[in-house]
Amino acid sequence: MLKPSLKEAKIRTKKEVLTKTNEYIVKHDLKKLGKDKTYYVKTYGCQMNEHDSENMKAILEDMSFTESKTMEEADVIFLNTCAIRENAHNKVFGMIGRVKTLKETNPNIILGVCGCMAQEEVVVDEILTKYKHVDLVFGTHNIHRIPTLLEDCMNKKEKQVEVFSIEGDVIENIPVKRDSKYKAWVNIMYGCDKFCTYCIVPYTRGKQRSRKPEFILDEVNKLVKEGYKEVTLLGQNVNAYGKDLDLDYGMEDLLRDVARTGIPRVRFVTSHPWDFTDEMIETIKKYDNIMPYIHLPLQSGSSKILKLMGRRYTKEEYLTLFKKLKQALPYSSITTDIIVGFPGETEEDFEETLEVVNTCKYDSAFTFIFSPRVGTPACRMQDDITLEEKNERLQRLNKLVNQYSKEANDKYLGTTVPVLLEGPSEKNEDYLMGYTDTMKLVNVKGDSKYIGKIVNVKITDVKTWSMDGEIIE
Ligand code: 5AD
Ligand code: SF4
Repeated sequence: MLKPSLKEAKIRTKKEVLTKTNEYIVKHDLKKLGKDKTYYVKTYGCQMNEHDSENMKAILEDMSFTESKTMEEADVIFLNTCAIRENAHNKVFGMIGRVKTLKETNPNIILGVCGCMAQEEVVVDEILTKYKHVDLVFGTHNIHRIPTLLEDCMNKKEKQVEVFSIEGDVIENIPVKRDSKYKAWVNIMYGCDKFCTYCIVPYTRGKQRSRKPEFILDEVNKLVKEGYKEVTLLGQNVNAYGKDLDLDYGMEDLLRDVARTGIPRVRFVTSHPWDFTDEMIETIKKYDNIMPYIHLPLQSGSSKILKLMGRRYTKEEYLTLFKKLKQALPYSSITTDIIVGFPGETEEDFEETLEVVNTCKYDSAFTFIFSPRVGTPACRMQDDITLEEKNERLQRLNKLVNQYSKEANDKYLGTTVPVLLEGPSEKNEDYLMGYTDTMKLVNVKGDSKYIGKIVNVKITDVKTWSMDGEIIE
């Protein structure tokens, strides 16, 4: 049993990051371990986790498991968890409880808990003492080890816990089973070294490790050949791409080279305002296939709170960057993340956040109430704000954010925009849904021949979170 260690997860050394191309192996006798058995992977959290789940699915299929449509029918259930806020935690523990009921009728079910919560010492301790029906726990650094861990679970009938609390390497040969035939996630870097004081990610995902450009470009070139229409370059802090490589090759170089592969659309998440360079802005401007969409987390509009958060920029610096972006890319949509109720946030601090929202008029914003995460510096800060106050601030913020989302969408009314149609709309089967290059959700009437294509759509109606339109042939 190898449990996670918070103490070790905090360590950052100068140790070289290795690119490993042979680390993932499925021994011959494990290739059939999943014959006539099914799996179900439930994903919580961010795109990084969604992509990790695509890796897990491919590994399970390498071992002959097939995907089950429902969790209830599956022989192997993986919960790929998120640790970012308390409510994500609670959802997962609720689900672990639900699987217990399933295991009462089918004791052979293997329940695995993985992802960011598995990297947390407190969580694994709780699982081991209170949730004894969990058969397997593995961390974000242990995905390639699934075949061996699952074999030990199934054949030896022993609980397996393996969570490396390491800075991490880059493993290049893990297979992937992509959820979409048109849009693909491509990791460009792993981990994070920013250590914002509220954030658990540097502890759950290790140190910042960029993938070498040739591996990324190879992957994108393959996707182009397979007919993919969009790639999203993924990382916790993509603007810092390459800084840990000894190559003099940064995010602007990577963006340029990915754009030159000819993929119809490229976007990237998530940016940290600190590392956004003028060269990057120029590159986005220069290549038509780089989507004019930027997610630029603000977190707070108060320089005092930003300092406590360890964000390394002031309100003024953020606004200067924002204005530069809007000036260079007037058509772009810019979205953000905001936390309310950070320890020490006064009404005046919060009003500064509202002021920034009033200035930036974001296309949309993800808003959160601060959630203390064990082991982070903010967790130990004095927090005097009542939950009632935090809720009230969140509501005031959401009202303003929604107002600007609607205003941003209103500008599209009557215009014709390119939309990548992905599939049937959730609400109405006669409709298709897709996204503009500025990541606006659009519903159109149309038949399935348009799925997977980028089509011109005239916008006929706009709402706060979506738009309706007509396909223009
Ligand atoms: N509490 C609330 N929100 C958080 N986020 C990250 N950590 C916390 C936390 N402890 C938010 C940030 C980040 C987004 C992914 O989640 O806004 O940008
Ligand atoms: Fe993603 Fe962070 Fe949640 Fe992990 S903790 S799943 S990296 S959002």
